[in-house]
Amino acid sequence: MEKHQTKIFIDIGCGLAPEPGYVGFDIKRTSKAAIIGRLPHLPFKDNSIQGFRARHVLEHFFSEDIFDILRDVSRCLKPNGEFLIIVPHGTNPLASQIDHKSYWSYNSPLTITEDGLHDEWIGGIFRLEYRKLFWMKQDYRGRFPWLVKFMNWMINTSPIVMERLSFHFGGIYEMEFKIRKIAT
Ligand SMILES: C[S@@+](CC[C@H](N)C(=O)[O-])C[C@H]1O[C@@H](n2cnc3c(N)ncnc32)[C@H](O)[C@@H]1O
Repeated sequence: MEKHQTKIFIDIGCGLAPEPGYVGFDIKRTSKAAIIGRLPHLPFKDNSIQGFRARHVLEHFFSEDIFDILRDVSRCLKPNGEFLIIVPHGTNPLASQIDHKSYWSYNSPLTITEDGLHDEWIGGIFRLEYRKLFWMKQDYRGRFPWLVKFMNWMINTSPIVMERLSFHFGGIYEMEFKIRKIAT
């Protein structure tokens, strides 16, 4: 990381493709990460990072570990810093891979934000900025893009109902949501 850089963004669990504009962090030395380390611990100073993202990473952890990750993300984030999270949706067959330990639906982000209902609620640290469901992966480049666009629109008009009905249209591929550290 450059010393003069004031806004640092970290892609945690970046694998082989750190997001452009982000510094990659991963457990695997074979990844393309610039920084190797093991979640839930992050090797960054308090209030030093502008934003984190994690694509298809948090589902590899049990909820207790997710809370630990969120606490450490919160410690490292600057006030109002963001955490962009993309997870497979629970209705996606990919979600039930045996190395997946948590399953996510439209209301799951509420358990980790100020409106949280979870027993181990860590609310007060983050607020939910938005959440969005995707019928296909976001970088889908296949046939019938208009259908994918329509389905994305439809499932987000009434997400809770559409989650219940989604087994009739092949499940929902993934969910993206952003949480922001509440300035104290
Ligand atoms: C399914 S891959 C996602 C890779 C990438 N984000 C993407 O969207 O293609 C999950 C990544 O999380 C990393 N990972 C798993 N457990 C980890 C841990 N405890 N600490 C850091 N990275 C971890 C894996 O090495 C892997 O690169």
